Amino acid sequence: MREVEDESVHLIVTSPPYPMIEMWDDFFEKVGCKNYDEMHEYLAQVWRECYRVLVEGGIACINIGDATRTVNGRFRLFPNHARVIEHCEKIGFTTLPYILWKKPTTKPKYKGKGAFLGSGFLPPNAYVTLDCEFILIFRKGGPRKFERHDQRRYASKFTKEERDAWFTQIWTDAGERQNLNEIERRAAAFPESIPYKLIRMFSIIGDTVLDPFLGTGTTTKVALSLGRNSIGYEIDKSLLPIITKKIGLSEARLTGEDKIEVIIRED
Ligand SMILES: C[S@@+](CC[C@H](N)C(=O)[O-])C[C@H]1O[C@@H](n2cnc3c(N)ncnc32)[C@H](O)[C@@H]1O
Repeated sequence: MREVEDESVHLIVTSPPYPMIEMWDDFFEKVGCKNYDEMHEYLAQVWRECYRVLVEGGIACINIGDATRTVNGRFRLFPNHARVIEHCEKIGFTTLPYILWKKPTTKPKYKGKGAFLGSGFLPPNAYVTLDCEFILIFRKGGPRKFERHDQRRYASKFTKEERDAWFTQIWTDAGERQNLNEIERRAAAFPESIPYKLIRMFSIIGDTVLDPFLGTGTTTKVALSLGRNSIGYEIDKSLLPIITKKIGLSEARLTGEDKIEVIIRED
């Protein structure tokens, strides 16, 4: 992310491709990752850049799901969330308590297939369904410091109801209103409610929010609508029209105060 200066970003909200999930197999193959370790090493390069660009006290929220898969005839869990925590701690991040958001797909699975069939009611060989995703929360250094009556900070405050609902470990409403089109499904877009809450929880008006795995542009769209600046990186050029449509780049925004720049890099 060489376009982004050291210590210039206040919050990162992102969701990378998930290692060992079939829908991302082609992607990881294309970028030369042959196994679980290499996939996480690929992601860790981005976590290192995230650390560099964050201000002291800046927060990184990483949405990731674990994977289950049969490899060499053995069914097992690939705990992506644990690997990301390990890498981020080595980089220097402080791990804070994380959030689990429950996905609306709750049907138990049998041998990775849709419905819970076969020995569904007979112990002990069935598996627990992965129906939650993690939102890992990391901080660079100690808490952010502000002037005593910082006006931007006060203008950004949340209500008691919002605080009670958001600063809890399990979110059950995140996926409910997700009405995705085909491209958003392919890019595994997260529901807007996720960046909405995280941006309100961990940044103030006027801050800069970065998404290094921008996908369809959800984080940038929500960040701009909340009065934050935003930077996004996306490697898949075919998503550019979706991103520009989602954030309204082609519309009135360009004539207003907002400064939006799209950088296409060929390497
Ligand atoms: C899970 S999707 C993000 C979805 C996004 N949160 C949304 O709401 O649309 C991950 C994205 O990261 C992109 N990606 C993977 N490696 C990248 C890299 N090194 N730099 C930038 N983007 C990358 C993929 O092309 C994919 O679109």
